[in-house]
Amino acid sequence: MEVIITPEEMQGWSRQQHRTGLTVGLVPTMGCLHEGHLSLIDTAATRCDVVVVSLFVNPTQFGPNEDFAKYPRTVEEDLARCRERGVAAVFLPQAAVMYAGDASVSVVEEGLSGRWCGASRPGHFNGVCTVVAKLFNIALPDVAVFGQKDYQQAAIIKRMVRDLNFPLEVVVAPIIRDDDGLAKSSRNGYLSVAEREMGLGLSRALGLARAAVATGESDAGEVVRRMRQHLTEAGLRVDYVGIADVETLEPVSVLAAGQVALVAAYAGKTRLIDNTIL
Ligand code: PAF
Repeated sequence: MEVIITPEEMQGWSRQQHRTGLTVGLVPTMGCLHEGHLSLIDTAATRCDVVVVSLFVNPTQFGPNEDFAKYPRTVEEDLARCRERGVAAVFLPQAAVMYAGDASVSVVEEGLSGRWCGASRPGHFNGVCTVVAKLFNIALPDVAVFGQKDYQQAAIIKRMVRDLNFPLEVVVAPIIRDDDGLAKSSRNGYLSVAEREMGLGLSRALGLARAAVATGESDAGEVVRRMRQHLTEAGLRVDYVGIADVETLEPVSVLAAGQVALVAAYAGKTRLIDNTIL
């Protein structure tokens, strides 16, 4: 497995793969790899000849009061996991090679970013779009794989790829959960035993929405109210709860199958997100 640290070398490596007729799959990550990331790698491997994983804790997507400094960094373990999983190359840049000190161009998505995570994390999706656009230009993938866990992020990246004509396919892979339903996340490591228990409230709240669809309920507002109450009773501080159109991410008033239910809530200081397609 190659470990590549500069954008130029990464571009050269990918061009070489393309010259020999191989397709390249990219899995962009911020490291601290867990089963969820490994499933993205497996998805990329089924679609492409060679897989590149990027490991980069992107400073521009963290707000001033967020966890950039304490975000878990486990590079040696991440490299070992990638190697075991058959990854062909890891792109492991430092911030200084990713961002010029006087960088003045960024990618701003203005349609889907306003609500949900975008409302509570101003500037977050600009940082995500900019770094992902850069990673696309650096790793030159044919396919890029993202997790459904970050549903809004995946929708925004698909929109960016469409609107800026990136020559690649975006694949969204399903959420991987612990046996008790908690969605895998690098931030789960922050949780105390009691907070982890609270965190189960997210997937259970989503279960209420699925059950409501199954029994033919139609008042989305009422279902959202019940989900919110469930989160609060679990001891979580709610950031948002919503049921939205899968494409536009606009909230719906009439509940129907095929919509997306989205939740974000704090267990102690840790912000957790989850979603499900109904
Ligand atoms: O989902 C993530 O881990 C990050 O937002 C991403 C896509 C790697 C961009 O930094």
